[in-house]
Amino acid sequence: MRVLGIESSCDETAAAVVTERGEVIADVVASQIAVHAPYGGVVPELASRAHVQNVVPVIEQALAEAGGLDTIDAVAVTNGPGLVGALLVGLSAAKAIAFGRELPLVGVDHLVGHLFAVYLHRAGELASAPELPYVALLVSGGHTAIYEVTAPGEARILGQTRDDAAGEAFDKVAKLLGLGYPGGPVVDRLAARGDANAIELPSPMSSRRTLDFSFSGLKTAVARYVKQNGVPEDPADLCAAFQRRVVRVLVSKSVHACKERGVPRLVLGGGVAANRGLRARAAEVCAEKGVSLFVPPVSSCTDNAAMIAYAGALRLAAGERDGLDLAAYSRSPDVKRGKMAKAR
Ligand code: KG4
Ligand code: ZN
Repeated sequence: MRVLGIESSCDETAAAVVTERGEVIADVVASQIAVHAPYGGVVPELASRAHVQNVVPVIEQALAEAGGLDTIDAVAVTNGPGLVGALLVGLSAAKAIAFGRELPLVGVDHLVGHLFAVYLHRAGELASAPELPYVALLVSGGHTAIYEVTAPGEARILGQTRDDAAGEAFDKVAKLLGLGYPGGPVVDRLAARGDANAIELPSPMSSRRTLDFSFSGLKTAVARYVKQNGVPEDPADLCAAFQRRVVRVLVSKSVHACKERGVPRLVLGGGVAANRGLRARAAEVCAEKGVSLFVPPVSSCTDNAAMIAYAGALRLAAGERDGLDLAAYSRSPDVKRGKMAKAR
């Protein structure tokens, strides 16, 4: 079975064709970074307009690479969480294709897409994928949470941020330091040559009693440092100190979750999983604690439609379908603490 996936929840317009085994046939992403960079963050109205411009060319390219619309068996589309005006663009395109071709349609929760992206692989490549259950740390610009992934398409949330997402904290700190948008990759690069011990910063909510996170205090501490000392001429030490605090708490709580759940498998996902400091620290601590670490390639971690197509294939395999009345939602209604997050 070949599923066409469509993603437009935030600032990437993406389309992909993926098999029910997670083999990626086509994977096209049109990024809007240049549109939003002058504003230092995503501007919802501009995102919607860019999706309108990009959605048809992106879908056409994915279909051309996959051998045409005739080779497609079903359509999967992100219907939340995200910017509703942005989601509606992908959702309308998906409905039009499903209606016009009489193909099954399934809505996919964007977060469920991220949680199962570890199974994506190219033809001829062996997916180095974990067996179920596994613990997943999902760290992006919009979300930061630890899940126990229990069955195909299903996960249980164990802890989440109480304020900023980790990527949001990276972006805000980069903005404070005048480093441009998105800030994560720049902070990552500068941190690599900085001294993390040169500047004292608080460790954000590092208590093991909760698997929740909080990054706004750390961000405020960086803002206070800048107010008192000005923006450093070379911000490498400040970036290194900030990144170390974020990375340490992310890794220590994720590995602690593995221990608490008796699940010695950890998967990283989301845009912040591209961070070299996070990857290195996770590898070090997992090796020490006997946890197997699975880190998908960066293209599977950041927003893409292949993960949506695959999560859609899991729903289809479970016999699930949606109608043309499928609605968009801005926040996950059923991802509550300890409850099952279903792929819808
Ligand atoms: O998953 P993603 O592409 O989109 C969302 O769903 O948010 O994640 C984007 C986020 C941005 O906040 C960006 O600054 C961050 O991921 N990011 C990084 C790195 N690369 C991207 N953060 C830290 N280090 C990186 N290397
Ligand atoms: Zn995402």
